[in-house]
Amino acid sequence: MALPPIFLDELRTRTPMASLVGRRVRLSKSGRNWKGLCPFHNEKSPSFYVYEDSFHCFGCGAHGDAFAFVMRAEGGGFMEAVERLAGEAGLDVPKPTPEAAARDRRARDLHGVLQVAEAAYTRRLHSPEGAEALAYLRGRGLTDETISKFGLGWAASGRGVLAAELRPEGIEQDQLIEAGLMQLRDEGRVGDLFFGRVMFPIRDRRGRSVSFGGRILGDGQPKYVNGPETALFSKRRNLYGLDLAREGVFRGANLIVAEGYMDVIALHQAGFNGAVAPLGTALTEEQLQALWQVSPEPVLCFDGDAAGARAAARAAELALPLLAPERTLRFVTLPAGEDPDTVIRAKGPRGFQTMLDAAQPLSEALFSLIAGSKLPETPEARAALRNRLAAAAQTIPDKSLAAEFRRSLLERFFALSKRPGLRAPPRHPRPVPDPDGIMAERARILLAICIHHPELLRDVEEPLALLDLPAGPPQQVRDALLAWIQEGPHLDSGELIAHLATSGAASATQWVLRASGLPMEARPGAQPKEALDAFWQIFGFLRGETELAEDARAAHTAFVATNDLAAQTRLIRLTEALDALRRGEAELDENG
Ligand code: UTP
Ligand code: MN
Repeated sequence: MALPPIFLDELRTRTPMASLVGRRVRLSKSGRNWKGLCPFHNEKSPSFYVYEDSFHCFGCGAHGDAFAFVMRAEGGGFMEAVERLAGEAGLDVPKPTPEAAARDRRARDLHGVLQVAEAAYTRRLHSPEGAEALAYLRGRGLTDETISKFGLGWAASGRGVLAAELRPEGIEQDQLIEAGLMQLRDEGRVGDLFFGRVMFPIRDRRGRSVSFGGRILGDGQPKYVNGPETALFSKRRNLYGLDLAREGVFRGANLIVAEGYMDVIALHQAGFNGAVAPLGTALTEEQLQALWQVSPEPVLCFDGDAAGARAAARAAELALPLLAPERTLRFVTLPAGEDPDTVIRAKGPRGFQTMLDAAQPLSEALFSLIAGSKLPETPEARAALRNRLAAAAQTIPDKSLAAEFRRSLLERFFALSKRPGLRAPPRHPRPVPDPDGIMAERARILLAICIHHPELLRDVEEPLALLDLPAGPPQQVRDALLAWIQEGPHLDSGELIAHLATSGAASATQWVLRASGLPMEARPGAQPKEALDAFWQIFGFLRGETELAEDARAAHTAFVATNDLAAQTRLIRLTEALDALRRGEAELDENG
């Protein structure tokens, strides 16, 4: 319902912010404004400022005008806030004219419709009517924080309730049809898509609701109903949870593809912040591409039964023609009859982590996906299988990758043929790692240490700057780090990551922070001392012995000349790195 802007302005001027806020927050004068302890987050020193017509918290970012303050402080919607403030100011809220309502209706886009619908569903979940649904969600182990993070709601059991509820907000039936919340049935009748269901908003990559999935309480068919294709929503392209997973993966989480909505939610709640799911269909090519935009190595989780194996084989078949050296998949096979949700409930996050750690690279998973668990008996059938394996490798466009897969698949095939009845060997020949790849991986670890421990940067700035790093992402991230440190920032990892996320080195940073292959010392939880030791060790590997020895000599000269503490520290560090490097090489010599 549109209210005339003139009325709202009048209401604002009749509602002095300081006295409105002052009823809840003890304010003290700060220049021409007021400040106090923020009522919206816990703080010890005041960062909540009140201006003539707005408030702003420099601690949590809460911000808005008088209506926003009432909505946040008291809950409830915009209209309730307007009504309350109008009552206090002695103004009547004007009744909307038909023209104003029509204008408002046209102005509201589909996103707005979905947003209003989502708000209606969540409100109902927390009303007495939604009590059973709320209890169901809590009974499935979801915390209230998770329920609100995913915007879960409840669609009323009666028919036509949503339409009736949204009509006063200026939303008409045809808009609900366009938004995929109602549908035209036979004989021109219009019906609700969702009633008596727990509502899961489906969001686009930017976090805006584009549709809903609805689950029945308990058993019953169909278990889930999903919104139809609309101008905003495509089942082939969207992924449930992608908005949150993008953020999670950027901060180092694995991108995990589960099958269901509840799996995604349970995974996020358990700290696996990179979880997504397709929308009730098999994974599509568009979704694979979307996944690879977020991570070079998504992990697909499948149930350990026959249907899960079929789904995995389909995904692998789809992926092969799209593979590239920096675009692959891993597979987690769950115990039969389990999904990530049940695994986490029974075994906790650690239980799922164990399965994640055992994820198979595509090259390994592929053999069993194509060949099954044992070779066929007849020579004809074996020859056919061999051709299928070779043909699968052939579909990879990258020539050397295709050759790698072909060799790996056929080696397994022959190993099985020679020893009938035995399973494929657990070890598969790894490609000989190329020196460039090793250097890039070392650089990645070094940079991850710097990003998670920016407090070290002051000490290692110079050696980092002088290091000869591989071109591309390693150099981009190093340059971004050095540029950042010049600005004299607060040396906080969270702030640094946020800064890099919006810099030109965003995707290079994401490459660095990928969790797989990072040693503990290069992960967020490491002790500064461990991280610093690891920095120098890896620095030594990257720098090489000759250069390192030269560095140490130069540092020695500098120390003798200046006798200052920084030069001494540097000398000690370089000598240690040199020792570590020589020790490492000595160990290698002994072993092989
Ligand atoms: P599952 O039946 O595995 O769902 O279907 P789930 O997430 O484990 O459900 P819970 O744990 O019983 O609540 C996986 C996905 O397939 C789609 C949904 O997207 C669901 O999340 N699906 C399933 C449908 O679209 N319709 C159905 O009737 C069932
Ligand atoms: Mn489930």
